[in-house]
Amino acid sequence: MKIVVITGCSSGIGLETALQMAKARDKPYKVYATMRNLEKRGEIENRGSDVMNKTLFVRDLDITKDESVDKFFTTLIRDEGRIDVLINNAGVMHAGILETVSLDEIRGVMETNYFGAVRTIHAILSVMKRQGSGRIINVSSLFGICGAPFTEAYSASKFALEGFSEALAPSLRKFNINLSTIQYGPVETPIRDREEEMFARVKYDMVDDKTGQLMRNFRAGRDHIVNLDNGAAQTAEDAVKVLVKAIEDDDPKLMYSSSDFVAGVVSSKLKDPTGESMVASASKSFLGD
Ligand SMILES: NC(=O)c1ccc[n+]([C@@H]2O[C@H](COP(=O)([O-])OP(=O)(O)OC[C@H]3O[C@@H](n4cnc5c(N)ncnc54)[C@H](OP(=O)(O)O)[C@@H]3O)[C@@H](O)[C@H]2O)c1
Repeated sequence: MKIVVITGCSSGIGLETALQMAKARDKPYKVYATMRNLEKRGEIENRGSDVMNKTLFVRDLDITKDESVDKFFTTLIRDEGRIDVLINNAGVMHAGILETVSLDEIRGVMETNYFGAVRTIHAILSVMKRQGSGRIINVSSLFGICGAPFTEAYSASKFALEGFSEALAPSLRKFNINLSTIQYGPVETPIRDREEEMFARVKYDMVDDKTGQLMRNFRAGRDHIVNLDNGAAQTAEDAVKVLVKAIEDDDPKLMYSSSDFVAGVVSSKLKDPTGESMVASASKSFLGD
């Protein structure tokens, strides 16, 4: 059985991926579904009760804490002797008006979305190299390729993850370790509620009217895009498909788009070295004419 570790399994894409992989009968996986707060393990334990402690194991792991990461991976390697698949899924969303957001808040986003993945990869790399095999999936975002207004901290953290991944992937291939990033577009998960809470905290009173209006336009544009009915958004169950494809691909790629919508936006960015088409399309989609 392949040993799989997934971060951020209390909800959303991580939870669905852990359940689908632990229940897969054709390709048996032993899944370590980790979360930073074990009080949230109720849903995965209920929905995974048929496979719990057989192919699904729930463990404590906070990717922003060195001690937590050391403890989890030391125990895993002691017990299993190997790790075949690492899925860096845990992440936080962030949106706001930049001049009202503290640097500590921006650092916090980077600490989870970028350094969190760096920390887990750091912990397992020598094991995978010794094995001469492994798959690493870094869950990124369309905003990791195309920055979006009012999500500067989030976009930057996913850009950092993309750059790190692209830089590391070629040497890992020499050890038969494949690293991929997944660019998700909107997926219907509890991250949406966290976004709503963030929007409720936007400090309109601290900025000029024009910036406030642009933020309201951004919110309306984003509400339109994340609406499941318009075809751009996915359910969490559906979002698992691309992740499993990346893990099981016989010819793994560096990057996977989660949908045709994402693939279209990414390819239009990559063929314009001036970046101007991105500025124009982000402005049109999110800020209004
Ligand atoms: N949903 C989308 O539209 C979308 C789009 C693009 C990319 N993504 C990416 O997809 C990934 C999963 O997000 P999701 O949509 O499934 O959202 P979600 O339901 O909010 O899940 C995020 C998970 O990350 C965990 N997490 C946050 N900080 C952590 C930490 N320090 N240590 C360990 N776990 C931590 C959360 O745990 P708690 O419950 O304890 O907070 C939760 O389990 C993220 O990397 C996100 O950036 C999502």
